[in-house]
This record gives sequence, structure tokens and C-alpha cells, in this order.
Amino acid sequence: MGAAETASRTRNEHLTFRANRDAGRHGWLRLTPAYSHRLVAEALERCGRQRPVVCDPFSGSGTTGLVAAEQGHDAHLVDVNPFLVWFAAAKTRNYRPDELAEVAEVAAHIVRQGPGVDAAELWQPPLHRIERWWRPEELAALKALRYLIDETDLPPPGTDLLLVALCRTLIAVSDAAFDHQSMSFASRDSGGDGAPARTWARWEDDVGAVLAGAATPLPGRVAAHLGDARALEEDLPRCVDVLFTSPPYANRMSYVRELRPYMYWLRYLTEPRDAGELDWTAIGGTWGVATSRVGSWEPTQELPLDGELAEVCERIRDSGGRNAELLARYVHKYTDDMWRHFRSAAGILNPGGRAIYVVGNSSFFGEVVPVQEWYAQLLVEAGFRDVSVTVIRKRNSNRALFEYAVEATRP
Ligand SMILES: C[S@@+](CC[C@H](N)C(=O)[O-])C[C@H]1O[C@@H](n2cnc3c(N)ncnc32)[C@H](O)[C@@H]1O
Repeated sequence: MGAAETASRTRNEHLTFRANRDAGRHGWLRLTPAYSHRLVAEALERCGRQRPVVCDPFSGSGTTGLVAAEQGHDAHLVDVNPFLVWFAAAKTRNYRPDELAEVAEVAAHIVRQGPGVDAAELWQPPLHRIERWWRPEELAALKALRYLIDETDLPPPGTDLLLVALCRTLIAVSDAAFDHQSMSFASRDSGGDGAPARTWARWEDDVGAVLAGAATPLPGRVAAHLGDARALEEDLPRCVDVLFTSPPYANRMSYVRELRPYMYWLRYLTEPRDAGELDWTAIGGTWGVATSRVGSWEPTQELPLDGELAEVCERIRDSGGRNAELLARYVHKYTDDMWRHFRSAAGILNPGGRAIYVVGNSSFFGEVVPVQEWYAQLLVEAGFRDVSVTVIRKRNSNRALFEYAVEATRP
């Protein structure tokens, strides 16, 4: 076994988003914070209940909902990001064969027409420095594609599939690299005359891949809600048997930042400020305006683990690192938000219901933030019992960083 393979095994990469690539609908879009469908499948099989109602209150790309539906369970998904709610709904819906045939027909028509469309005057997303994302030839093809999708009169489920394919294509032909934990820009030496043709061919392939996934019937039903995991009772009654989820980690990763290209092309973002505003509504968000708000955030409630939390925050402050004060507040606010979530989760779980959180710890200036321990304590304080913490995998070359499963039962 080579060194890279050994490292990949120790990090259990088959439990990360990488495992989703060739797994039908699970591979529709690559979202790095997504977990592997296998992790969810094993947990749902392990729960040993007949047709549990499943809930994922931080549902992201909808992995939990799709696995639940594949296993014949009903599921409720909640996310604060409207693009992800749209995507999860498209990914977990049942499509009739006649609907899919119509989509294939419309897509073929678009591919025939597309190369002849003059894109000069067409709408393009107001994405900052768009030229860093796409060369002019690819941008023109994407603009024509978006225009032709807008012009179709397919009912929404069909249009959604064309847009999912557009999302795949726009990343495939962009200069953004998704090989890291989050996005960066890579230089490419392609482009030129062949680029538009490649973009159309790529979209045609992407439509094919999306339609192939959509053809698989799902025995369970999924409802995707735009909502807040800190106030689940606003969207759901007490009906949940298994809560399986992965909340944001306390590592300053911004989902809105990673999702920007999709969100602009699908018009969920119309101006740069919106991205920061949306990130402020997310737990752990610090993109744009959210950063300055975290900087002046003050707690309004006591947390049951105030002592330990205060010590960690104090050590982060004392580290003298860049933005240490901001990061100390960030960790405090993150924990405060998760406390709100745990109390809310207790309100939607049926007696005997099981909650499973997949979460990674984090580190600022060498100071480890042991969120898995804090989750365990907060769950007990929120009324849960039988709490356990197990290591799922090592995350990267930093020796202190792991991913954990924190599990608890609601009495
Ligand atoms: C780690 S990701 C989940 C990824 C998911 N397990 C998957 O496989 O795609 C965390 C998600 O939490 C969402 N989120 C953040 N704050 C939230 C809140 N207050 N309520 C609901 N969802 C929230 C983010 O938008 C993000 O999609």
C-alpha cells in the first residue's frame, strides 16, 4: 500500500464526500462538507427501528434525506440556506418516466440551439471578478444555457433537473478547484475556440448523469424545509425517531462562500452583501458582514458549560494570534447557538428517539476546541440520556483534529 493510500485509509475517506461521487443522485454535486451516504446508511440500519421518521436539521446537500428515502423512510430536512433546500428537494424527489423523457427532449433541443445563441446581451450573474471563474468563451456558453433554460416551459421538477446539470457544468468548466477542504482557483491552459463546444458537450453529459440518477425511484418521502435548527419547532411537530446530522464545525468554514457560484447562477444571491447577510443567519458563519457582527456579539444567556468555555476562549484571546479576540467570540457564539439547537432538538424528538451528531473538533493557535465534549454535556443539560462520543476518523495531518459521532437518546 502506498503512503497516500495508507493516509487515506487512516482518515477513512470513504466516510467523507469523496464516497458520494459515483453513487447516483449522491454524486450530483460535490459539496466538500457533505458526509458519505455510507455513514448515514449504516447509522439508520443500526437504529433497528421499523420505518423511523428521520430528521436532519443541518441538511446541506440532503445526504441524510436521500439515504432515508432510499431505505423507505420518511424524512424532514431543515437548512438555513435556500439554495441547499432547493437542491435537497430536487435530489430527493420522485420523478415519473414521462417527466424524465420530456426533460431529455428539451435538453436535446437546447443543445442543438445553444451554440447559435449570441450571448453578448444576455444576463450574467453579478459575481465579483467573474473573469477569475470563467474564460469569456465558457462564460458565453453558460449565459446562453441559463437563458435557454429560462425560456423552457417545463414544469418546475423538470427545470430543476436542467439546473442541477447546469450547476455541475459551471463548476466543471470553471477555474475553481474543489480538491481542498474549500474552494481555490487553479490555472488552466485550455480555453480558446474549443471551449464553447466543450461546455455544451459537458452539459449534455451532465444532463445524462442527472437523468440517470433521477430515474431511480425512492420508496420514502422527503420534505425539505427552509428553517433554523435553533427553532425546529416552528417547522416540525414532535415526530422524529432518528435525528442524524452534521452541524457546521467551529472552524470558520463558510458554506455560502463555497456555494457562491451556484447561488449566483441560480439567483439565490443577487448582490455581494446578501452573501454576508445569509452567512450571519448560519451557525458558525463569518463571511462578509457576518465577521464584523461576530466581532461585536455579546452573549445574552448563560450556558451550562460556561466555565470550560470561558477558559478555552480566554486561552485563544491570550494566544496573541491574529484576530484572537474575534475568534474567541466566534467560539462562544458557536457554542451558544448549538445550545439553542440542542434544546430545540429535544422538542421534536419522540420519546426514545436517538440523536446522532457527526462533528469535528477544531483548533485556533494550537488551542483545541473540544466541541464533541461540549456537545455531550449540552445534550445532557437539554434532557438527553445515554450520551456517547466515538471517534469516526482522523481529519488531516494535524494530529489533534478528529471527526466524532456524538450520540444521545431522548427519554
Ligand atoms: C456540515 S453542513 C451539512 C452537510 C450535510 N451533512 C451533507 O451531507 O450535505 C452544515 C449545514 O448546516 C447549515 N446551517 C448552518 N446554520 C444553520 C441553522 N441555523 N439552521 C439550519 N441549518 C444551518 C449550513 O447551511 C450547512 O448546509
